[in-house]
Amino acid sequence: MEMNGPAMPARAVAHSQSEMTELILPNDTNTLGNLLGGRLMNFIDLVGAMAAYRHARSHVVTASMEHIDFIAPVHVGDLLILKSSLNRAFKTSMEVGVKVWVENALAGTRHHVASAYLTFVAIDSQGRRVPVPPLEAGSDEERRRYEDAGRRREIRESEARRRRIPKFDPSTPVKV
Ligand SMILES: CC(C)(COP(=O)(O)OP(=O)(O)OC[C@H]1O[C@@H](n2cnc3c(N)ncnc32)[C@H](O)[C@@H]1OP(=O)(O)O)[C@@H](O)C(=O)NCCC(=O)NCCS
Repeated sequence: MEMNGPAMPARAVAHSQSEMTELILPNDTNTLGNLLGGRLMNFIDLVGAMAAYRHARSHVVTASMEHIDFIAPVHVGDLLILKSSLNRAFKTSMEVGVKVWVENALAGTRHHVASAYLTFVAIDSQGRRVPVPPLEAGSDEERRRYEDAGRRREIRESEARRRRIPKFDPSTPVKV
């Protein structure tokens, strides 16, 4: 991976902030009319990828999705509001935070239903990892998220060593 190019200028958190609104339809729900967890994860992945894509200005792949809290059910007919922004950029990876609300369009109220942290890795059109610009954490809140993302990365790395997660090697597929 080419890492010795000129230093990239930092990008502000606002540069990556993304928002998505979805109307929950019967196809998205279980037999009780509640949003399926997997469908919500799909929306979270999409809005998270938008933030990483905007920051990196390159293709991105999801490396991990963690810490998802499903706080309250979402029902058919609800409006789902998803917001994402970059918490921290590392070398080729970026941690993105996603927060999800349900809006009752009739009452004009919102409540928080889910949160998640995801890591995306920037790649070029050949699938090779590429460096990402540093993140400029300006406000106290942005700096807190930046520090927390560093702590989560340390925990993730020590967990990966403990679980002996193999490194991805496309040249050695396992025969079935
Ligand atoms: C994610 C992926 C690119 C990592 O490639 P790799 O060669 O194993 O990479 P490395 O272990 O050298 O790590 C590369 C970077 O990814 C990060 N990373 C790797 N696995 C990670 C994980 N499970 N969670 C968070 N970050 C991870 C590393 O911390 C490192 O970050 P840095 O460059 O900012 O320091 C590779 O595993 C992959 O392509 N996975 C499939 C992605 C995909 O298809 N997602 C959609 C799901 S179907």
